[in-house]
Amino acid sequence: MTNIIKILDSSNHISVDGIGNMLGISKVAVCKQIKILKQIGYNIESCTKGYKLIQDKKLFNEFEIESKLNKNLNVCKIIKYYKELPSTQITVKALAQKNFDEGTVVIAEKQTSGYGRIKRVWSSNPGGLWFSILLKPFLHTQESSKLALILSIALKHTFDLYNIDSKIKWPNDIFINNKKIAGIIIEMSADQNVINWIVAGIGININNKLPKEIQETSVSLKEIVNKKIDRTEFICEFFINFEKLYNSFQKEGLKQFFKEYNDNLLYKNKRVLIDTGYTLIDGINLGIDENGMLIINTENKLKKIISGTLREYKK
Ligand code: BTN
Repeated sequence: MTNIIKILDSSNHISVDGIGNMLGISKVAVCKQIKILKQIGYNIESCTKGYKLIQDKKLFNEFEIESKLNKNLNVCKIIKYYKELPSTQITVKALAQKNFDEGTVVIAEKQTSGYGRIKRVWSSNPGGLWFSILLKPFLHTQESSKLALILSIALKHTFDLYNIDSKIKWPNDIFINNKKIAGIIIEMSADQNVINWIVAGIGININNKLPKEIQETSVSLKEIVNKKIDRTEFICEFFINFEKLYNSFQKEGLKQFFKEYNDNLLYKNKRVLIDTGYTLIDGINLGIDENGMLIINTENKLKKIISGTLREYKK
C-alpha cells in the first residue's frame, strides 16, 4: 500500500498499467488497492490519462507513517492503525500472547476504555496519539521501570522538535508549563524474574479535545503551539528517537542517560510527596541514581524509590 501511495503521490496521472509495471502486480491488484485507498479516505482522481492523488487534507494511518519513516526500525516493525479500540494496551497484550514480534505497534484514533497507571481512566478522544509498542528486552523484572525512563527521554527529545521546554515528572509523565501532556504505562509478562515481553503504552495529547475535568491539569500540543500538529511527523520522530535510545540502552545500560533525565526533571530539588502504594514519603527530590531509583532526602535519611506517584508538596 505504501508503495502505491508513493507512486500516486509522485506522478502526474499514471495509468493502471504504469502502476502495475512499477510494482510488478496485475491490473486487478492495482484496482483493488486503489479501491481500498479510496475507502480509507484518499482522494484519487481517475480520468482517461490514469490516476492522480489529490491530497487536500493530511491523513493519519499506518501507510503514511511507513512512507514517512522510509527506513526499517526495530521498535516499529509492524504498525497497525485502528479507528477505534477499547485500549491499544489490551490489543498489544493479546498479540504478545500470540508471540508477535518485538516492534509490533498498535495505534488507535480513539480508545473507549483507555487506561493509565494505577488503572486511572485515560481520556482518548480522536486527534491524540494513543499507541502501544511490544518490546522484548533482555531485562530483569526489576529493571522494567528503566525502560519507562528511556521512553520519557525519547518523548522529551520529540517535543524538542517544536521548540518547547518539556519536563519529565518522575517516573514517566511529560509536562509542559506545569500541565501533563503525555503519559507512559508499562505492563509486562515474566518468568522467574526474566521479562518475556513488555507492552509500553504511550498517550500524547496532540490535537485532541481535552474533557473539562482535566483541562486544569492537562494540555495538548496544539494548544501550546497554537496550530494543528502533523501526527505522522510527531510519531515518526518519536520512533526514530526511541530506537536510538533503546539500542544504546540495551548495549550500555541506563548509566549514560541518568544525567539527562535529571537535568530535565520537574520538581528537582523541591519538596515532594511520593505515594508508593503502601506508604507516603515526604522529602526533597534529588533525582534518579545510575540505576534509575529516585532518591528522596527525608529528614533523617536518603530513601531510594523504584515506583510510585509523585506530587509537589503544597502547604
Ligand atoms: C499514565 O499517565 O498513567 C499513562 C497513560 C497511558 C495511556 C496510553 S494511551 C495508549 C495506551 N492504551 C491505553 O489504554 N493506555 C495507554
